Amino acid sequence: MRKNRPFKTGIVIVFLVLTAFAATAYAQQGDVRKGKRIYEQFCVPCHGLEGKGDGTRGKSEHFDPMPRNHVNGEYMNKRPQQELFEVIRNGGFSKNFSHIMPPWKTILADEEIWDALGYVRSMAVPPYQPAGPQ
Ligand code: HEC
Repeated sequence: MRKNRPFKTGIVIVFLVLTAFAATAYAQQGDVRKGKRIYEQFCVPCHGLEGKGDGTRGKSEHFDPMPRNHVNGEYMNKRPQQELFEVIRNGGFSKNFSHIMPPWKTILADEEIWDALGYVRSMAVPPYQPAGPQ
């Protein structure tokens, strides 16, 4: 059965590559339930309890621009997954947005940022359709 080996090795490699892709795609969807808790703890003061960008801080401190309305799917659904991840991780100024949107990388692990983003995506109207691995 020696002749068979390269074929079997090939199958194993294909399997491993597919698993890696699936794992990455899964991680990038985030855990919406965990994300909700993170969002309520850190994001609600600015983005509001329902994500409409109308949190108490935004209003009382007259932010300009106001925090993003995450329910606005017309805008949010066009924003690529990686871009939003980077805005949350590295702050608004890293992508030429307002510096008022803070960087979260020293407070949240990457996995928690994906979770928060998963929750952000779940608020969009019309609903966000994941495009798969990007
Ligand atoms: C101090 C207020 C504040 C807090 C706290 C805050 N944000 Fe923001 N966020 C903003 C502002 C202001 C903008 C709009 C930036 C702009 O339009 O230039 C924004 C924009 C965003 C965007 C849109 C980026 C884009 O590409 O349009 C996302 C996503 C986001 N915030 C996620 C979060 C998440 C997740 C949290 C909590 C972990 C959070 N924000 C906490 C103020 C805040």
